[in-house]
Amino acid sequence: MERRVTPDDIRRAKAERRKVACLTAYDYPTARLLDESGVDVILVGDSVGMVVLGHPDTTLVTMEDMVHHTRIAARGVTRALLIADLPYRSYENPKQAVENSRRLLDEGAVAVKLEGGRSKRAEIEAIVEAGIPLMGHIGMLPQSVREEGGYKLKGRDEAGVLALIEDGKAVEAAGAFSVVIEIVAREASQRITAALDIPTIGIGSGEFCDGQILVTHDLIGLFPWFTPKFVHPEAQVGAAIRDAVQRFVAHTRAG
Ligand code: KIV
Repeated sequence: MERRVTPDDIRRAKAERRKVACLTAYDYPTARLLDESGVDVILVGDSVGMVVLGHPDTTLVTMEDMVHHTRIAARGVTRALLIADLPYRSYENPKQAVENSRRLLDEGAVAVKLEGGRSKRAEIEAIVEAGIPLMGHIGMLPQSVREEGGYKLKGRDEAGVLALIEDGKAVEAAGAFSVVIEIVAREASQRITAALDIPTIGIGSGEFCDGQILVTHDLIGLFPWFTPKFVHPEAQVGAAIRDAVQRFVAHTRAG
């Protein structure tokens, strides 16, 4: 069996000029398929709230949801690095952040991810000091979508770029092994990537990041009612399901 990908492997990828491929999974068969297909990181993202649980955004996802989905995804992973998201309001202070991170590690996650830069430095430091590897997340923060009034592009002007670089540096200084950069202008993500030693993992942030992450449902067309503009689906699984079901219904009715 291949050895498992570690947080240190991901951290070193930047210096070794290896791009990092990351996707989401929330269940056993998807996690196993991604693991067998060679992805570096499997994220049990709180995007589960939107593409599986049918919520309008990620703010309704609970710790119980994340514990459940981390447990079942972990059963399918033997090689990739499994990371679990800390959901909305589950890391309001360092103590709570560490306790909830431990719950996700107890279910099989090897690392956790949380949203926020400078404002979350104390929580990130506490998690890392507790021996728990952490991936940061800056730029557009889906857990703040209600306050922000939508999924808006970040890093459009100089002040915005400098603020994002400060966020990235805070996450790095607090001990994160990598950082997601979500919906950030491509020139801005290029500058953040150049300013940090840890790998940047982009989503909707252009080609200059050190790796890419997508919600698997978007990549494979399994959430056909909405596809973000920056995604180019590689399959149409939703359409394949509809075709198969329509054929089954027709055969059944034909007797
Ligand atoms: O919840 C999620 O799936 C994420 C990634 C898309 C970055 O945070």
